[in-house]
Amino acid sequence: MPNHLIQAGILGVGSFLPERILTNKELEETVDTTDQWIKSRTGIRERRIAEPEMSTSDLALLASRKALENAGIGPEELDLIILTTCSKDMIIPAGACLVQQGLGASKAGAFDLEAGCTGFIYGLTIATQFIATGAMKHILVIGAENLSKVVNWEDRNTCVLFGDGAGAVVVGQVNANEGVLATNLSAEGSGWQHLYIPAGGSKMPADPVTVEKKLHYVHMNGKEVFRYAVRVMEEESLKLVKAANLELSDIDLLIPHQANNRIIEHAAKKLGLSMDKVVVNLDRYGNTSSASIPIALAEAVESGRVKAGDNIVMVAFGAGLTSGGVVLKWRER
Ligand code: ACO
Repeated sequence: MPNHLIQAGILGVGSFLPERILTNKELEETVDTTDQWIKSRTGIRERRIAEPEMSTSDLALLASRKALENAGIGPEELDLIILTTCSKDMIIPAGACLVQQGLGASKAGAFDLEAGCTGFIYGLTIATQFIATGAMKHILVIGAENLSKVVNWEDRNTCVLFGDGAGAVVVGQVNANEGVLATNLSAEGSGWQHLYIPAGGSKMPADPVTVEKKLHYVHMNGKEVFRYAVRVMEEESLKLVKAANLELSDIDLLIPHQANNRIIEHAAKKLGLSMDKVVVNLDRYGNTSSASIPIALAEAVESGRVKAGDNIVMVAFGAGLTSGGVVLKWRER
């Protein structure tokens, strides 16, 4: 191990969104809701839905190939693959292993990480440590979700919110003073029952009764999650900016978890940021959980919205309950 820390940053980004679009209007036909209610309470207009035969690791693989290409490295150069998701392919094994196989990343270790919608932030933070110590050179961090397969399509409280998709980044060494400037991870486990899938694990193994009661689908106390989100998005952002030795006026771009426009606008207001400094795509994709930040980042990079030297704050909250964020200075190419 070197006796100084190596600066870690993002070398490449990629995303994949399924083609099928499900609009609010279509949902009006299947549950007791309206386009107007969904738009005004959340900001969501439509979301993407993966094909029935497409698993989370399939989405992850497609985003990962793009991230590797964007970073200009081959799969054999990867040391580790971290797949963050709360809609795994299977309980065993880790979907990251299927991605490793699909990519042909023969040298890479692989594991899944579950931290709700904050998963990508947790994954990026872990990757940063391995790069900083010199233990590894290239790490793929993926956020991928197939939430359409774990929501109850008869429950209007949840089914209108979520969507499918994947985003991936390659983490590696960057120049001094660029890349990851600060990270923070938090959890309030006392709120775990506000967002969970009751059955299908060891606490309540799946059986015909749990299936009949639809306990293998997402259950959410939206009001409590909303309250938590509004509080922690502000707290985390302020903590991170301070830890990165920045002022609020130094923030060039905020990439928040894409769950609800009202939560995002509240955070922006508290940080004194105008909305042109905030990346929002939930109108098109809904809440893609751990995939939402890497998808938004990839789109912002690809559209030229991210410039070299920009200070980017990424902040998330989710099931657990968890929250956290990463501040990074976008690298020179
Ligand atoms: N269409 C019409 N009415 C609805 C719908 C819908 N789709 N969903 C709920 N309602 C009704 C409720 O039943 C309630 O009716 P009632 O007053 O007769 O009981 C009414 O609308 C108001 O419900 P609220 O929960 O007060 O609505 P609110 O304005 O809080 O919005 C929402 C609900 C959008 C779910 C909000 O609470 C929210 O965004 N919470 C955060 C959820 C979230 O971000 N979850 C993801 C976390 S990330 C992760 O880890 C996956």
